[in-house]
Amino acid sequence: MAATSLNDSPAFQRLHARHAETRGTTMRTQFASEPDRFQQFSMQAAGLTLDYSKNRIDTTTLSLLFELARERGVEAHRNKLFAGEKINTTEQRAVLHTALRAPADHDTLRLDGQDVGADVQAVLMRMQAFSEQVRSGDWTGRDGRAITDIVNIGIGGSYLGPKMVCQALRSFAHSRLTCHFVSNVDGHDLAAILGRIDPATTLFIIASKTFTTAETMMNAHSARNWFLQSGSADDLAKHFVAVSTNVAGVTAFGIDPVNMFPFWDWVGGRYSIWSAIGLSVVLLVGFTNFRAFLDGAHQMDRHFQEAPLERNMPVLLAMLGVWYRNFHGSSSVSIAPYHQDLSQFSGYLQQLDMESNGKRVSAAGEPLTTASGPVIWGDTGTNGQHAYFQLLHQGSDLIPIDFIAVLGASHTLPGHHAALLANCFAQAEAFMRGKTADEVRADLTAQGLDPAAVEALVPHKTFPGDRPSNMLLMDALTPATLGALIALYEHKVFVQGVIWGINSFDQWGVELGKVLAKNIEQELTGMAKPERHDSSTNALIALASAALTGK
Ligand code: F6P
Repeated sequence: MAATSLNDSPAFQRLHARHAETRGTTMRTQFASEPDRFQQFSMQAAGLTLDYSKNRIDTTTLSLLFELARERGVEAHRNKLFAGEKINTTEQRAVLHTALRAPADHDTLRLDGQDVGADVQAVLMRMQAFSEQVRSGDWTGRDGRAITDIVNIGIGGSYLGPKMVCQALRSFAHSRLTCHFVSNVDGHDLAAILGRIDPATTLFIIASKTFTTAETMMNAHSARNWFLQSGSADDLAKHFVAVSTNVAGVTAFGIDPVNMFPFWDWVGGRYSIWSAIGLSVVLLVGFTNFRAFLDGAHQMDRHFQEAPLERNMPVLLAMLGVWYRNFHGSSSVSIAPYHQDLSQFSGYLQQLDMESNGKRVSAAGEPLTTASGPVIWGDTGTNGQHAYFQLLHQGSDLIPIDFIAVLGASHTLPGHHAALLANCFAQAEAFMRGKTADEVRADLTAQGLDPAAVEALVPHKTFPGDRPSNMLLMDALTPATLGALIALYEHKVFVQGVIWGINSFDQWGVELGKVLAKNIEQELTGMAKPERHDSSTNALIALASAALTGK
């Protein structure tokens, strides 16, 4: 990462000045005076169109943002990423999710003696063969019937990616197969699914990079116990497979390594959907579609590697985000997919972005002197419109929005898709234009309200506008466009990490709570004497102990 602090970067200082200079300019006036704003500020890559014209930018601001990207060494860091350098310095790991989606004939990479490309292809071939057996019905359960239900047990990256992608590609799903996802240690999650499935036709995938994650291990053991209530241990192999980097852990759990699909420590959990963690996706949509998904991501990788920064979609998205985060004080970004099948996308991006860039020290361990990763949140656009869009339009914070829209539908219900797209485009227009007090006044007067009533309503019905958004468009939601979309955000997050000078690939912040939970669990279950916590934690433990033990 860049050695100097971001604050000291000359381009960063110039951007501060630029922010002050452009304070009075609105997007509404820019659109009025620049008729080719869309042509100027839109681009295409890997099957995606990005319209970034509704941002508080002009060519001068943009060139300063690219200057900042160059000063922070985005190009050099990008090269290190693809070259397999150990850029996850706190764990001494390479970060090679891009190698998972490279085609078979791609230049191979050697990492610590490992032929990365060959290993990736070998696992993909195993996933293909297994998925073909399950999908064709040749892989049968304990009583000879074909598999109907797949239960992926995993959490974090071993859950969010497969769940989001299975949902996004549900129009490509095998008609006999249903995928379920269990992540929560809360037994209500697993119990609800066990109540709906037949053990004899269910395949459990225990998905855990480490195979030590407490929630996953507890769910996996409970699922196995449930299975054994009606079946024998000899049948386990037909119903339990594992995806992990930990052969010993998988074997100790009782899954034969033959039924384990491996991946490697250079695949971060939140970047693992491209690895064997995508097994549920392969089973549901088939290997050809999974390969297309990888290829779509690879197209975006190539674009990210080859395009100049000024025409580089992930870099553009990243630098626009930096503009709002560091110069406009925006502490969150809202994601608004206008497609029901992308309903899990914001949740997926939360882990990708917030686990990567939710850091307050630099890669060198120095405290950051600027803000870093924002909060990522959102829901499908139409639902958000009727919930929190009020705050986005008229609230006191400036929250940039990423709209994601798909031009073609995979259903044939008349009218719906036009209504959906109309809403999406209307919202983006409304955020940009707003509605001035004079416009409100004219509307209300035309409706026949008396002047006093008009003036009373004007402040409430005025929209400040000038609220920025990106519009990401694709012709259809396909495996390839979905792959490109995810890779776009991965690289955006990477570039922002470089700008802020942080290690985007570790996640130490999740550890403390895990350790404390282990201790408290022991106290709650009587395995350890209650420790001295603070008075709040002590009281909560006492209440829960009483409820759990009935004493
Ligand atoms: O606790 C956070 C985390 O380590 C994530 O980074 C990871 O995706 C998740 O837990 C699950 O980890 P595993 O795949 O090892 O079970």
